Amino acid sequence: MQKAQRWIIGNWKMNGTHASSQALASAVAAGCKGNPDVTEVVVCPPAVWLQAVKEALGESAVKLGAQDCHGEAGGAFTGNISAAMLKEAGCSYVIVGHSERRQHQHETSGEVRKKAEQALENGLIPIICVGETAAERKAGNALSVVEAQLKASIPARKGDFLLAYEPVWAIGSGQIPSASDIAEMHGHICKVAGDVPVLYGGSVKADNAAGILGTQGVAGLLIGGASLKAEEFCGIIAAGT
Ligand code: PGA
Repeated sequence: MQKAQRWIIGNWKMNGTHASSQALASAVAAGCKGNPDVTEVVVCPPAVWLQAVKEALGESAVKLGAQDCHGEAGGAFTGNISAAMLKEAGCSYVIVGHSERRQHQHETSGEVRKKAEQALENGLIPIICVGETAAERKAGNALSVVEAQLKASIPARKGDFLLAYEPVWAIGSGQIPSASDIAEMHGHICKVAGDVPVLYGGSVKADNAAGILGTQGVAGLLIGGASLKAEEFCGIIAAGT
């Protein structure tokens, strides 16, 4: 696996203009004072702003990631973007299987696995997302749901990848699982997936980041809303270094 021991990854989702994306990237690059050998910082802007964000990041240690790629190498797939294109655009990472895509684009774990394999094939590190809904947790099925997602989403091909445990009910809600629930799930994920870094995502803020990072089995954070504010995101990076 990479030399970093921790990952702080911002998922900007469908937000920002050309100007605001460049301003945010510049502010993160300037405010990110961590040691890149310890903590890898990644920002994942909308695909149309990848180039602009790459320019704004300049020579900083902050890495570029994308929010999705297609599961095929290329061809007649209108509106989609291949892993090779993302690599050429300067990406090092790509998020695959985010719950918003599983929900709104009806992506299956089989499709997520193909995306992860395309990412690996093209020298990108996939960040494979898994997580249960509130109803699934309430029914006592959180571990088995996540286990099934993992078994079907993990690439068959060899290569480095990250996993992100993001309970669907924690995303954008301000709710986070208890430390013992996070530790239990991360332990279970490692049992199923092997020795893979497992990030946590869902309502991470500057004021809860250190506590979550200190939870057993948490190798980093995947951050949505709070990654759109430079000060907040840099506060999270500071908690991780
Ligand atoms: P949030 O989103 O930090 O806004 O909860 C996390 C995610 O969707 O990755």
